[in-house]
Amino acid sequence: EKKREKYWMGAHELTVKLYQHVLLNTEEGKEAREYLENRGFDQNMIERFQLGFAPDSWDFLTSFLMRRNYDMDEMMEAGLLARREFDKKPFDRFRNRVMFPVWNRDGKAIGFTGRILGEGNPKYMNSPESSLFNKSRILYGFHLARPSIRKKNEAVLFEGNADVISSWRAGIDNGIAAMGTALTDRQVKMIKRNADKVLLCYDADDAGQNAAYKNAELLEKAGMTVRVAKMEEGLDPDDFIRQKGAERFRNEVIDSSLTYMGFKFRFFRKGINLQDEGNRIEYVEKVLQEISKLPRAVERDHYIRQLADEFNLSLDALKQELIQNFKARK
Ligand code: GTP
Ligand code: MN
Ligand code: MN
Ligand code: MN
Ligand code: MN
Repeated sequence: EKKREKYWMGAHELTVKLYQHVLLNTEEGKEAREYLENRGFDQNMIERFQLGFAPDSWDFLTSFLMRRNYDMDEMMEAGLLARREFDKKPFDRFRNRVMFPVWNRDGKAIGFTGRILGEGNPKYMNSPESSLFNKSRILYGFHLARPSIRKKNEAVLFEGNADVISSWRAGIDNGIAAMGTALTDRQVKMIKRNADKVLLCYDADDAGQNAAYKNAELLEKAGMTVRVAKMEEGLDPDDFIRQKGAERFRNEVIDSSLTYMGFKFRFFRKGINLQDEGNRIEYVEKVLQEISKLPRAVERDHYIRQLADEFNLSLDALKQELIQNFKARK
């Protein structure tokens, strides 16, 4: 099995180089070069993240690998090529896409995620699951970010690979992303082995914020210290950097992140009209419930005060309620 994986990784490595060559040096790569340029992806980003382009062809990679005597069945199993339904012949899985290699922990390419140029469906296409490419074990950019994650004792977790790349350009070199929204136990362990803290920096839409909420809880339960970045409605980190610049990103997003509790309070407020008394009571109850789960009295006290201040409520009344209704320890 080890030998087989090595064979697959060798083919991936070669494919990374081939796609990169197409992007940088060929006429077919021109549109992709312009696309990346318009997105603000410069040469340094292209090199560090080994970006490439898969041309709009059914047999470009197929004939390349064939000429080099790669076993076609193996290449289809490895996910580099797809299998045609009616005659089981191989063809190029990735066509007309900007190619982002995905690496294992040692920095060996084990798969790809390919983005369509401009609009279209699906926007991203991943290598199929295999013994080598297992999304639940992958954190995009991990081997590049790991030294910094260890040094800073913190990982910055993004939703998309584009966010990891843009934020690196903006000076954030401990950024990683899960390939899909929900973190697995495996990924949590990978992070935890290298740092005590995680900063979640997800898209400002519902999908992103819901994912941040779920993952924050998972990481917190695993004993990590979690913070969550505030993002302006409608933007993701990559958009923000492009529109407002690296410095504002570091100051207003990364350095102004919320504590896990602060984020939760904000999260519960969404869609709630605090002018409405019923809504307000509901919100206060939800927050009290969260506060009651906190193990330390000083922490509970801190947030109770915050809540009392915010709504001009009596501190004693809130404390009473916490003890009576939520059985918090005194
Ligand atoms: P850009 O439009 O290139 O900036 O992408 P994004 O990184 O902002 O993507 P988005 O926020 O829409 O999605 C976040 C992540 O979810 C992506 O990086 C992908 O990993 C994944 N994703 C998004 N769209 C698709 C899709 O159509 N198919 C698959 N398999 N994954 C997707
Ligand atoms: Mn190859
Ligand atoms: Mn998103
Ligand atoms: Mn996004
Ligand atoms: Mn984006």
